[in-house]
Amino acid sequence: MSHTNWKQYFDKRAETHGAAVQSSDYFNEESFFMQRDNTLRWLGDCKDKTILDAGCGVGAFSEPLVKNNTVYGVDFSEKSLEFAAARGLKTMPGDLTALTFEDGKFDAVLCIGVIQLIEQYEAVIKELARVTKPGGTLLIQTLNKGSVQRKLLKLMEKSKKFDRMYTMDELKKVFNKYGFDHIEFLHMYHPFKFVTNGRSAGAFSNMLATSFAIKGRKNID
Ligand SMILES: C[S@@+](CC[C@H](N)C(=O)[O-])C[C@H]1O[C@@H](n2cnc3c(N)ncnc32)[C@H](O)[C@@H]1O
Repeated sequence: MSHTNWKQYFDKRAETHGAAVQSSDYFNEESFFMQRDNTLRWLGDCKDKTILDAGCGVGAFSEPLVKNNTVYGVDFSEKSLEFAAARGLKTMPGDLTALTFEDGKFDAVLCIGVIQLIEQYEAVIKELARVTKPGGTLLIQTLNKGSVQRKLLKLMEKSKKFDRMYTMDELKKVFNKYGFDHIEFLHMYHPFKFVTNGRSAGAFSNMLATSFAIKGRKNID
């Protein structure tokens, strides 16, 4: 799908589902909370930080961070942003390939469930890297290309809900290219509730994780 079509798609989802997680295409609430709670626990304690939720949708993912931090939310779906603002995010309509924030503004940047919709994903990661503070964290969550389950689903699915998937090694290379080290992965195995994590993508998680998150620390020099 093109940029414009994804924008229209998510505006329409937000019109239909309002603040609910279905606006952001989650399978159901259980699946959403499993992903959110595990990912935020893995991100670690955040207090008095300036955080960007890039492609925040209706803001449900970063909502728990709002209480103790300043959380900005950028998305091109203005309808979704109405609900994110009601959750306490400082919202700004915009495209992730061209952010208007100054370099190094954020202690942490989250980008959850977005890059599978974007063919020019490197342009997005470059922008997210630019606005991450030296020593700050970039965390991206997306679909695992190696997943046996996803390969089977792809064969059966009639309508495509995303444009691409990623291998963990592929994203690790891009993180390194844009100045991140201390790379770690969190592996998720939908519909199961358990997660695993580690510094590399092992054979088990490469084949069986349906989604993964990657986080890295931006180089200080
Ligand atoms: C699957 S939803 C995920 C929303 C949220 N991160 C969450 O996990 O609840 C993907 C979001 O990315 C936004 N998006 C996709 N491509 C974008 C782009 N190039 N610029 C800004 N927002 C984008 C969509 O509008 C949508 O709200």
